[in-house]
Amino acid sequence: MKLKHSPIRFDILTLFPEAFGDYFRQSILGKAQERNAIAIHIWNIRDYTTDKHRTADDVPYGGGAGMVMKAEPVLAALQDVLKKTARIPRADKKIILLSPAPKEFSQERAIRYANHRQIILICGRYEGIDERVTKFIDEKLSIGRYVLSGGELAAMVVVDAVSRMIPAVLGNATSLAEESYAPAQSGPTLEYPQYTRPAVLNVSGKKLRVPAILLSGDHKKIAEWRQKHTKTLK
Ligand code: ADE
Repeated sequence: MKLKHSPIRFDILTLFPEAFGDYFRQSILGKAQERNAIAIHIWNIRDYTTDKHRTADDVPYGGGAGMVMKAEPVLAALQDVLKKTARIPRADKKIILLSPAPKEFSQERAIRYANHRQIILICGRYEGIDERVTKFIDEKLSIGRYVLSGGELAAMVVVDAVSRMIPAVLGNATSLAEESYAPAQSGPTLEYPQYTRPAVLNVSGKKLRVPAILLSGDHKKIAEWRQKHTKTLK
């Protein structure tokens, strides 16, 4: 797939910067950064607080349980990122607030995001975030119909799925085309079952065999088998 821009720059605004290090250093995303196919920048929202206690949350107006993320540090962080990346035109940026929201992440959305040069992900926390932040974002995005403790896991999901849309990240165009959920005329599909050695797996007194056709070396038959066992969603 040809994308308009590569590399993609991700900027993640969070109160928990330590949450990201390990995952982003691993395997595909780690290599993608080494190859400059993507760049990931993490910003600590607490660095943008101005009081002695570095307060990033406060009680909600109108009362109620829990704390609400204050708008000022989030917006100060966002403005700083925008200033530091002013060379990237606004039209090539996508500013996303991760929170429980009606808009849900999907493979189609990952493709759309991947056509931007910069993706700014704001991680909500606690019971919510001052609604006025939404005046400065392009969209609120959820990764599924469940409530997480914060947007950090969701941001990782978005970075991962969007990065996989860049051919240089996978380093192998075929694996993208064949991947489950790869965009296809027929809509998202699920990949066929895969096996690797050993051909016979002895486990708990059972012998689990790889389908014989996959061992046959008959590429035409293998392709037919895979086609037959590929599931289409919806
Ligand atoms: N924050 C809390 N729940 C979330 C979800 N489902 N998706 C994205 N961000 C969230």
